[in-house]
Order: sequence, then C-alpha cells, then structure tokens
Amino acid sequence: MSAPTRILGIESSCDETAAAIVEDGRVIHSNVVASQETIHAKYGGVFPEVASRQHIVTIHAIVDEALKQAHLSLGDVDAIAVTRGPGLPGSLVVGINMAKGLALGSGKPLIGVNHLEGHLYSAWLARAGADPVPEPEFPLVVLIVSGGHTELILMRDHLTYERLGGTLDDAAGEAFDKVARLLDLGYPGGPAIQKSAQGGNPLTFKFPRAWLEGGWDFSFSGLKTAVLREVRGLEEKGKAIPAADMAASFQTAVVEVLVVKTIEAAKKFGAKGIIVAGGVSANSELRKAFGMRTLLPVHIPPLFLCTDNAAMIAGAGHFRFMKGQRDGLDFDALPNWPLTEV
Ligand code: KG4
Ligand code: ZN
Repeated sequence: MSAPTRILGIESSCDETAAAIVEDGRVIHSNVVASQETIHAKYGGVFPEVASRQHIVTIHAIVDEALKQAHLSLGDVDAIAVTRGPGLPGSLVVGINMAKGLALGSGKPLIGVNHLEGHLYSAWLARAGADPVPEPEFPLVVLIVSGGHTELILMRDHLTYERLGGTLDDAAGEAFDKVARLLDLGYPGGPAIQKSAQGGNPLTFKFPRAWLEGGWDFSFSGLKTAVLREVRGLEEKGKAIPAADMAASFQTAVVEVLVVKTIEAAKKFGAKGIIVAGGVSANSELRKAFGMRTLLPVHIPPLFLCTDNAAMIAGAGHFRFMKGQRDGLDFDALPNWPLTEV
C-alpha cells in the first residue's frame, strides 16, 4: 500500500475563512471554519469589502489551527489546495495569496480548485475515526444548490462534468435568502425559512412550480414574485402575514422541483447514485424528500460539510493532485469559473 496523501485545503470564496487537512480525499483530520455570519447579518447579506478584510484578519490563525488540530506541520502535507473560484474576487485572492505564500515557503505543490467541485467532493468525506461513507459509484447525477449556484451535472467519472442544466435566474439559496428577507425572517435565509416552516402549513399557499418541461433547467424568480405578490396583497388588506405558512409553502415548492427533476435526470442517464451538495443541501425537507422518492443511493454530506468549508477543497484537491495537476504561482482568481471549464 502506498503512503497516504495529505492535502491542506484553504477556502475564502465568500464569507467563511476555512482551512482543513484531508487524507486520501476521504478522511478529515481537521476542519476549521471561521464564519462571518454575525458580521454580515446586519447588512442582510454578504458585504464583499468587509468579507475580504475579515479574511485577511483571520486566515493565518485558521491555517495554523488546522495544522495544529491534525498534529501536522506544513512539511508533512503533500500539497496545498485552494479555492480559485467562483466567488467574490476580493475574498478569493486572500486565500489564494495565503496558499501561494505557503507553497513558495515550503516548496509544496499548489493546486487551484473550483469551489463547486469542492462541494460535490464533500460526498466522499468523513471525519477521522468515523466510519467512511459509502463511496459514490459512477455515473452520478449531481445537484449543486448553494447561495450563488443551482447546477445539475452528469459525472461519468472523477473530475469530468457534463452540465445538464441550471437556474435561469435566481439560485436556490438566493431564493431562500430573498424570501426570508421578504418575510422578515433574517439572514442567512435558508436556515431561517427552515425554522419558521416547522411551525407552518405547506399547503396553505399554492405557489407555482417552474417545471420547464423538456429540459433540466430551473427557475425560481417566478416563485419569489408569487410570494411577494401574496405578501403585498395581505398588507393592502391590512392582514397579518402568516410567515410560517408562507415559509413552509415556499420551501415545499423549491424542494419538490429540485428533487423531482434530479431524480428524473438520474433515471434518464442511468445514474448509479445521486449527489446533493452546497449550502441548500443542509435543508431538512430536501434531505427527507430525496430519501423518500428514490431507491438510488443519495449521497448528501453531513450538515457540517454542506455549507462552505475547506475540507471539501482539500478533498477535491486530492483527486486533482493524483491526476497530476500542479499550478504555478502566477494563477489568478476566477470569480465566474463554471464547473464544466475546470
Ligand atoms: O454553499 P454555501 O455555504 O455558500 C455558497 O457557496 O453560496 O451556501 C449558502 C446558501 C445560502 O443561500 C443559505 O441560505 C443556504 O445556502 N442554506 C440553506 C440552508 N442552510 C444554508 N438553504 C435552505 N435550508 C437550509 N437549511
Ligand atoms: Zn459554497
């Protein structure tokens, strides 16, 4: 057996500063995340300028902590993987510059990783000491649902992606965030909607589902507008807004379209499994619905890996490292990097 490969991952694409050590793309030795959530909450969304400055303040300590928790020094890792994009330019460069500095100082290889690729490779990860998760079998249909992306992808093998479809307007997470703002539920919207929906009736409002028959695309802006219209209508009549019922009805509409279309795609392309990843995959209704509607293995990462973290970047970085990818010190951030162009 060959010696294990250990990758240091660094992530700073949005509002979490994160570093992690992952072995062989599967075992998490450390996973440190500093969330800026409370800082951005008062703006009701991520404030890019504030985010990048906060990354600068915390990133050194986060990388040190990830190494310390894994009982390793930089000399023990095989490569440094860092999120190259997509994300906020000013945030991405902080992680990239940190990784470049470490690579230059240590002579370790540097690997730029696509953030969405990171999200989907979290399906291979488990904490050291825990049972490994069942290994996803190809071909796979992958649904990535985050704050900035909704992508349906066919994966016939490691690191190869065929885009089946994606959102034509708002990302799923973005819809959660916007509707939460509309209902005054706070930020980030996903967890706030989920919590409020627990006390609501999902059948109260018949919000529209955009099926976009004949293709694999999604659309959430009509749903958002329907919620807005309902809220305005009630306000004009001087009626109270039943936020919990609205949250539940909205959540059910989003979940239904995501789950049904993903399972249809899996059938159509003969997938042996489904991966669901990205921040919205933390949603309890979405997780439940996938389990109930298909007999195929559905790989959804544990909650701590659904939202942004660096273990997923180290995980994807491992497969890129094994394939021979090495990036130079001159690579730039790619704020709009599609997964299909990696
Ligand atoms: O992947 P992520 O952490 O960051 C991006 O790469 O965008 O995803 C963040 C998104 C936000 O829109 C947030 O509202 C959503 O994921 N989210 C959720 C839940 N937890 C986070 N959406 C629905 N239900 C949740 N429980
Ligand atoms: Zn993300």
